[in-house]
Amino acid sequence: MAKKKEKETKEEKETKITDLPGVGPAVATKLEDAGYFDLMSIAVASPAELGDASGLSEASARKVIQAARKMMNLGFEDASEYLKKREEIFKLSTGSKNFNALIGGGIETKAITELFGAFGSGKTQIAHALAVNVQLPREKGGASGKAVYIDTEGTFRPERIKQFAEGIGADPSKILKNILVARAFNSDHQMLLLEKIPEMIKNGEPIKLLVIDSLTAHFRAEFTGRGQLADRQQKLNRYIHQLSKLSDQYNLAVLVTNQVMANPAMMFGDPTTAIGGHIVGHASTFRVYLRRGKKDSRVAKLIDSPNLPDNETVFFITTNGIADEES
Ligand code: GTP
Ligand code: MG
Repeated sequence: MAKKKEKETKEEKETKITDLPGVGPAVATKLEDAGYFDLMSIAVASPAELGDASGLSEASARKVIQAARKMMNLGFEDASEYLKKREEIFKLSTGSKNFNALIGGGIETKAITELFGAFGSGKTQIAHALAVNVQLPREKGGASGKAVYIDTEGTFRPERIKQFAEGIGADPSKILKNILVARAFNSDHQMLLLEKIPEMIKNGEPIKLLVIDSLTAHFRAEFTGRGQLADRQQKLNRYIHQLSKLSDQYNLAVLVTNQVMANPAMMFGDPTTAIGGHIVGHASTFRVYLRRGKKDSRVAKLIDSPNLPDNETVFFITTNGIADEES
């Protein structure tokens, strides 16, 4: 009986958007290109949005949305089930209590956390610190896990990892062994590397953190012309969707970095910032804007969180970690 149920849920997950009445392969491709990959994303869309993305009339789009809602059985769930799902989530410590508090206790699993900010704002430093801290036991803000670090800019520094390892009183050579690093040479390679992760986890690697530093650099470099913006966005949508699925399926914390101009107002013109709106399903998103503060401090500001206030906090990058105080 339990087996049958398991099978059913598995099949449910594999329902494709072409199973919706009125969504043939051509419409499906348009929808996927706009970031609608699954029933959930369609079920929560508005008819106007979906119409724009698919070329369907608003009335037809409304029918598609209604069908998606029916198929998904959107509604209430037993609170104990809900609690069970929430209990699986854990939070990784950055090393700074202030920073952790800003994002609700630390970098969450089953979620994507985006660090964005200008050159030198501290994105890579925080990513390094987390690749170390994920190895701590739960009670110390880790997950006794390993990190996968996808480095697109060639800025991963084992020497820095060693310093952070010393900061938590751990053996640097052991810490280094638990960080699986790959250099991604272009956006296709960056996408390909993700495919290896389920295999590694199935082979018993206790991966709990996935870092993509930087998420967007290759995409920006390769799709430069104005006419290529839509292509770039499609590819990024797909990539984010895959990250979201991985984080949810394997209970991973996903940390991505994204460089922006120093003027935060600029980001609203950047299509990469729209991505968050399309991340649906179970994975949620935290977006943290980083900048240099007074003296050697850094400021982190939480942006657009659905359930946390848009606060900001001060932290420091020190020789041995991310901290509340300057060392
Ligand atoms: P881009 O990748 O260029 O967009 O920048 P980023 O946001 O990734 O910046 P990154 O995390 O590389 O931050 C670099 C800054 O971290 C430097 O300017 C230093 O201020 C600080 N930093 C780097 N290494 C050390 C170190 O060993 N000790 C201390 N105290 N600070 C460091
Ligand atoms: Mg960097």
